Amino acid sequence: MKFVFLAIAFGASLLVSAQQKTPVYLDVTKPIEERVENALSQMTIEEKVSLCHAQSKFSSKGVPRLGIPEVWTDDGPHGIREEVFWDEWDGAHWTNDSCTAFPALTCLAATFNPELSLLYGKSIGEEARYRNKTVLLGPGVNIYRTPLNGRNFEYLGEDPFLSSQMVVPYIQGVQSMGVAACVKHFALNNQEEWRGHINVNVSDRALYEIYLPAFKAAVQEGKVWAIMGSYNQLRGEHCCHNDLLLNKILKNEWKFDGVVISDWGGVHSTDQAVKNGLDLEMGTYTNGLTSKGTFPYSEYYLANPFLKGIKEGKYDVALLNDKVRRILRIIFRTTMSSNRPFGRFVSPEHSEVARKIAEEGIVLLKNDKQFFPIPAGKYNKIAVIGENATRSLVIGGGSSSLKVAYEASPLQILTAKYGKEHIVYSLGYASGAAVYGREENSKLNADSLINKAFDIAKNADVVLFIGGLNKNHFQDCEGGDRHSLDLPFGQDKLIDALLKANKNTAVILASGNAVAMPWIDRVPAIVQSWYTGSEAGNALANVLSGEVNPSGKLPFSFPKKLEDNAAASFGKLAYPGDSINEYYKEDILVGYRWFDTKNIAPLFPFGYGLSYTTFAYSKPTVDMTETTAEGTVKVSFTLTNSGKTDGAETAQLYVSKPKSAVTRAAKELKAFRKVFLKAGESQTVMIDVPVNSFAYYNEGKHGWEVEPGSYTLLLGSSSRDIKGKVEVKVK
Ligand code: GLC
Repeated sequence: MKFVFLAIAFGASLLVSAQQKTPVYLDVTKPIEERVENALSQMTIEEKVSLCHAQSKFSSKGVPRLGIPEVWTDDGPHGIREEVFWDEWDGAHWTNDSCTAFPALTCLAATFNPELSLLYGKSIGEEARYRNKTVLLGPGVNIYRTPLNGRNFEYLGEDPFLSSQMVVPYIQGVQSMGVAACVKHFALNNQEEWRGHINVNVSDRALYEIYLPAFKAAVQEGKVWAIMGSYNQLRGEHCCHNDLLLNKILKNEWKFDGVVISDWGGVHSTDQAVKNGLDLEMGTYTNGLTSKGTFPYSEYYLANPFLKGIKEGKYDVALLNDKVRRILRIIFRTTMSSNRPFGRFVSPEHSEVARKIAEEGIVLLKNDKQFFPIPAGKYNKIAVIGENATRSLVIGGGSSSLKVAYEASPLQILTAKYGKEHIVYSLGYASGAAVYGREENSKLNADSLINKAFDIAKNADVVLFIGGLNKNHFQDCEGGDRHSLDLPFGQDKLIDALLKANKNTAVILASGNAVAMPWIDRVPAIVQSWYTGSEAGNALANVLSGEVNPSGKLPFSFPKKLEDNAAASFGKLAYPGDSINEYYKEDILVGYRWFDTKNIAPLFPFGYGLSYTTFAYSKPTVDMTETTAEGTVKVSFTLTNSGKTDGAETAQLYVSKPKSAVTRAAKELKAFRKVFLKAGESQTVMIDVPVNSFAYYNEGKHGWEVEPGSYTLLLGSSSRDIKGKVEVKVK
């Protein structure tokens, strides 16, 4: 009897275990697409719709019944934003979320070093992973069209090729840590003024040649798993549900298989959100970001209204299934992936990476009579003047603002490096607090600040003025544009006073944007030091002291005056628009494409940056003078470090088509190479340029076309410092 009982029990256990066999979607050995289909087949309509919209400020639902985790997103491109309250923008005062602040992406672009971009992505990806985020809401790649855009500091500059080259490794780095990157803001979000609705009108050529390339590279080369729709409109449709951008271009042409996430509060219609390619609606208030809405998450456009439309047969369930497949895919690629790394937070390695990027991104703009480097011991008294020597520059700026584990300030580290008996500091000028949405002014008396600084400068051997912009509203900050190219807070007046007190006054600018420099001829040295995050002080001190030889190059042009800028040359309709419509009248001539085609001399050109050493270029040669559209041109030249200091030079290769059937920019960047050379060392550099990169977008044919005929390849140390040219004929 006992035996029979045992036999039955054994049989029953087999039956039970057979029933509890791991379902396919939970089986990490199964291909993701099989897991997606299996999970989808087990979900109810309600569960499917619940995946398509926010459940809190930065999260959306999973499927608790099936053990499918929620999606947790977080800002931003430069570091992991602090935890906020469930349904608020305000920080929740956690004590375990102070992060490493990496340099702003303008600084990363200025390194012209894709290897550093991979390191950046891996490091910030590790921090996002450790904080258990599914999606990092970055990088941003909107093109620098006007110096007034409040968010230029978050992006990769004015050139689509540089932006494309630098965004791909960043994405690969983040995603190698099992966190989805979310490239943003797709697309044409090139200003903050009226960002929520301004309707951008732009030609197909400018769209495809200037504004889309970095996104296309992010999708096709970076294999990005998420993309964020932008607030503005393109040709009459909001970009968070824009048929041309999301269905035709992104999903059909580029074969994007990831998730389209709306910007927060960027959705305005259930019908369009359902049909025009949006997958996940985020935000807090359906009626926009600025006022406490009355709509609960269940009333979001892709919530109950969507569910109702499905049940009434108004919307095809296939549209719902496509959204859910994409959201399930991002979950299986991250939180439910088989080999997800474990992440790391505020590690010494991340500080090392942050400092290296900052050191390689800092740009030496002027250096008369070897003002820099200043080795320790060279001077007895160094005056450091300016608010940006001490002010925190990781806070403010909008959604990329960070609560950091530490932030080494320039004054702190310069004092450590030169010795406190050799450093004397004065504030010089003061701005107000960084308050989102409004401009605060300082209550300090500007004249007395200047007088104090004057006295300090007068008695010093040299003066280091450390100013620039900051992350206050109407400066380098989301939600508003700058109103002028000028330095704010009375800095020009202060610099004039400092120069009267001491002609050995260098200007160091922390900013993510170009500024006017009325004092430029009277200042012996100028450094563009960006927003460089937690390691700011260490990187700047290492460059100024000569421990590091600067090698940064400008990722955008500095105009002499605002009117010289392309977007500023066509009146209000071209920028900022008439509050309803805006027309990108400069078309493809953005940045140096404008300056070099219209022969307007910039203050400092795209791709420009000095070094403590000098570099000599031999004449470039090509491996063939005739090729086809499918060919690749090999350009070679010898680069020599002709100075006494080891250093790095970024050689740039621009393409020009003298006799073209269509309007073309005088030159376009199509390749670059950063070369590290010891003092006196020479290296033969080979740069491959695919001929199909010479193509222009033919609007009539709706496709790219390489014109036959001759092209000039220009080898330069900047867009305006051309060292040599070679001709190539395309059959
Ligand atoms: C903001 C920004 C976007 C950010 C998001 C969440 O409005 O436009 O870049 O990721 O909302 O903070």
